[in-house]
Amino acid sequence: MLIFLLNQQKIETDQHPGTVLLDFIRNDNRLFGTKEGCREGDCGACTVLTGRYDGDKVVYRAVNSCLLPIGSLQGKHVVTLEGLNGIENTVLQDAFVYEHASQCGFCTPGFIVSLTDFLLNNADLKFQEAIDSISGNICRCTGYASIRRAIDRFILDVKNKIDLQPELRIQQLISAGQLPAYFAEIPVRMAELVADTSPVKNGKIIAGGTDLFVQQADALRSASVQFVDDAAVHHQIRVENNECIIAAATTMEDMRRSPIFQKIIPDFDKFAKLIASKPIRERATLAGNIVNASPIADFTIILLALDATVELEKNGSGRHVALHDFYLGYKQLDLQPDEKIASIRFPVPHGDYAFNFEKVSRRTHLDIASVNTAALIAYENSTIQSARLSAGGVAPVPFLLRESSAFLTGNEINDAVVQQAIDIAAAEISPISDVRGSADYKRTLLCQLIFAHFHEKFPQVLSEEASL
Ligand SMILES: Cc1cc2nc3c(=O)[nH]c(=O)nc-3n(C[C@H](O)[C@H](O)[C@H](O)COP(=O)(O)OP(=O)(O)OC[C@H]3O[C@@H](n4cnc5c(N)ncnc54)[C@H](O)[C@@H]3O)c2cc1C
Ligand code: FES
Ligand code: FES
Repeated sequence: MLIFLLNQQKIETDQHPGTVLLDFIRNDNRLFGTKEGCREGDCGACTVLTGRYDGDKVVYRAVNSCLLPIGSLQGKHVVTLEGLNGIENTVLQDAFVYEHASQCGFCTPGFIVSLTDFLLNNADLKFQEAIDSISGNICRCTGYASIRRAIDRFILDVKNKIDLQPELRIQQLISAGQLPAYFAEIPVRMAELVADTSPVKNGKIIAGGTDLFVQQADALRSASVQFVDDAAVHHQIRVENNECIIAAATTMEDMRRSPIFQKIIPDFDKFAKLIASKPIRERATLAGNIVNASPIADFTIILLALDATVELEKNGSGRHVALHDFYLGYKQLDLQPDEKIASIRFPVPHGDYAFNFEKVSRRTHLDIASVNTAALIAYENSTIQSARLSAGGVAPVPFLLRESSAFLTGNEINDAVVQQAIDIAAAEISPISDVRGSADYKRTLLCQLIFAHFHEKFPQVLSEEASL
C-alpha cells in the first residue's frame, strides 16, 4: 500500500507504483490545475511540489509530475496548484494578474508552482535565482517580458510585506496569507505516514525516473519496480580520508547546493545551470546519469575528469570500479544483473588546481550536449603536475582523453603545448555524424572546447595570438 499526502488529503492506494503522478493527479483525483504538455520534462506545465523530510523539517521542491512515478512518493507531501490556493490571491498570483503574465494560462500553474519553490527556499529572494527556478517552464504566449515584470513585482511585494527568515519561512508565509494554513499540520501528518512504510527491494531500479520515464513510461506502468530509498542519508556528500564520497541517489541539485562540493569546484553553480532545468536536476541522480550511459551525460563527464570510482553492491558484497573502466561499449556497462551503484567517490584534488566544464548544445539551456568536456589540471607555477581531460559526444561512451591527458602531465602551459594536446585529442576520438552535428563539426568543437579550458583557467599564460 502506497501512502502519501496530496494537498490536504491522505492517499492510500494500491495502484501500480510505476503510475505517473500527472495521471494520478488528473485522472484519479480530478485536479486539473496541473497541465499535461510534453510528458518529457521539457515544458513545465505539469510542475508540482514534493515535500520530504530533510533532517528535522519538510523541504519542498518543484518537480515534473509527468516523469514522477507515484511509488517514489511513499510518506511524502505532494502539492498541486489547488493546494496552494487560499481564499484571496497570493502576492505571486496578483503579480501575474497585474503584469498580464498569464495569457492563455496553460503554462501559468507551472510557473506559480516553480516560483513557490523559489519563495520557500531562496534565502534572499534574488531575481536571478527566481529566473533559474523557472528554467523548466515554457510559455508560448507572453514572450516572457510580462513574466519577468511579474517576478520583479512579486519579489518587491513579498519583501515589503514580510521580513522573511529562512528557518521560519513556512510559518511566516502562512501568517501572511501566502500559504494555506494546513501547511502547519503537514510535518505531524507526514511523521505518522512514514511509520507505515516498507520499501520493495527487487525489480527495475528507479531513481529520479527522469531518464526511464521518457524512454519507457508505458512499460513501467506494469513492470516490477523498486525505488531508491529517499532518506536524507541517501543524498549524502561527505569527505573521508581525502576522498569525496557521494551517495548514489544524490541529485544534481544536491550537488549544486553542497558546500563540500562547492569548495572543491567553486564554479560548480555555473556549470550546473548548463545541465537540464532545475526541476529535472532536483530529481536526476548521479547513479542514474552514470547508468543511463549516454555518451554525452554531463555529470558523468565531470566525474570522469575527477577520477571517480563507482562502488557496486549486490547481496551485501561490494566492489569498486574506476568510472573510466565502467563503460565497455555503447550502452554496455560492467554492471551485473541485480548489482547497484551504492556510492561514487573521487580523490579530493589538493595543491593548486583548476577545474573547468564546457558544453555546447543547440540551446544553451534545457538541452543535451552536442559535445561536452571537463578538465582537472593540477599545477605548480606553470608546470602541469597532472591532467585529466574527459569528453562526451565524441565516442560511443563517455570518454577519458587518456593520451592528451598523459601528454599534458609534466609540461609547461603555453600555446604550443595546448595546441599539441588539442591535436592529440583530435586523433584519439571517434565521433560520428548524427542529429547533433557531423563528425567533423564535433571534432572541431572539442578542439575549441579544450582550448576554452585553458583560456578560461590560465588566460595569463596563453599569448594574445592563441586567444584569437
Ligand atoms: C528534460 C530533460 C533534460 C535533460 N537534460 C540533461 C542534461 O542536460 N544533461 C544530462 O546529462 N542529462 C540530461 N537528462 C537526462 C537524465 O535526466 C539524466 O541522465 C539523469 O541523471 C538520470 O538520472 P535518474 O535518477 O533520473 O535516472 P533514472 O531514470 O531513475 O534511471 C536511469 C537508469 O539508471 C539506473 N539506476 C538508477 N540508479 C541506480 C543505481 N543506484 N544502481 C544501478 N542502476 C541505477 C536505472 O535502473 C535506469 O536504468 C535530461 C532529461 C530530461 C527529461
Ligand atoms: S508535461 Fe511537459 S514537463 Fe511534464
Ligand atoms: S500564457 Fe499561454 S503558454 Fe503561457
